[in-house]
Amino acid sequence: IKAGEMLTADATALDAVEQGVMVEEANLKNTTVGKGGAPDREGNVTLDACIMAPDGNAGSVVYLKNNTHAVSVARKVMEDTPHVMLAGEGADQFARKKGFAKVELLTEESEKAYKEWLIKKEYIPLINIENHDTIGMLCIDKNGDIAGACTSSGLSYKMNGRVGDSPLIGSGLFLDNEIGGAVATGMGEAIMKNLSSFLIVELMRNGKTPQEACEIAVHRIIKSNPDYKDFQAAFIAVNKAGETGSYCIQKGFSYVKYQDGRNENIPSSYYF
Ligand code: GLY
Repeated sequence: IKAGEMLTADATALDAVEQGVMVEEANLKNTTVGKGGAPDREGNVTLDACIMAPDGNAGSVVYLKNNTHAVSVARKVMEDTPHVMLAGEGADQFARKKGFAKVELLTEESEKAYKEWLIKKEYIPLINIENHDTIGMLCIDKNGDIAGACTSSGLSYKMNGRVGDSPLIGSGLFLDNEIGGAVATGMGEAIMKNLSSFLIVELMRNGKTPQEACEIAVHRIIKSNPDYKDFQAAFIAVNKAGETGSYCIQKGFSYVKYQDGRNENIPSSYYF
């Protein structure tokens, strides 16, 4: 809603995606993004995020600690450095230099859940549908320019150092301002091996609708993962004309489309 309202008030797509995903980064009840996100097995909350501008420029952060708004640090990487990606301690140092306050990301609730998890330390290295999510957003502004953002605390109780698809341009997010954009959520490992968001944009370039492109990307994952029934992978895509599509492996994923002042929750079609 935030991004939609901004676009209605003539904001750029880039500002809208950044501020749109920031809402969930700051939502303490969301355990998969920003502050309140679930920690890794050692108790560290580490964030992954990226942002992409209509001109093809991109910025990203991985294993970022102590910052609620990973997407905004990623934007600073894009705009104020000669690099695309900063990781870990360097990303954190950069954030401090840019004036981002140091924030403790582990909340009372996420710490309590972590301590409960520690009793059994049961780790199934597959993303289960309920405990995993990512905020991905694509916006088209009044000039027809497309921008995208993707932000996540990654898989709950992941190994220390694990990075998912969300900060990887081409995996968690990709766009071409002449064609359209795509973002992903779900099992990062499967999405990374298929470069799924890039694939979706290239399929649209070759004439597929956003819906067809998302379906092909899911089928690719299914083909190379015999265990596909055990995890979720979901994609949304938009083309230059503003047509959207979405497809996922498992039932239960939906996306929100804001167009002409109307906010619509659209259940995604699914394979399994
Ligand atoms: N899709 C987010 C992650 O795997 O970390």
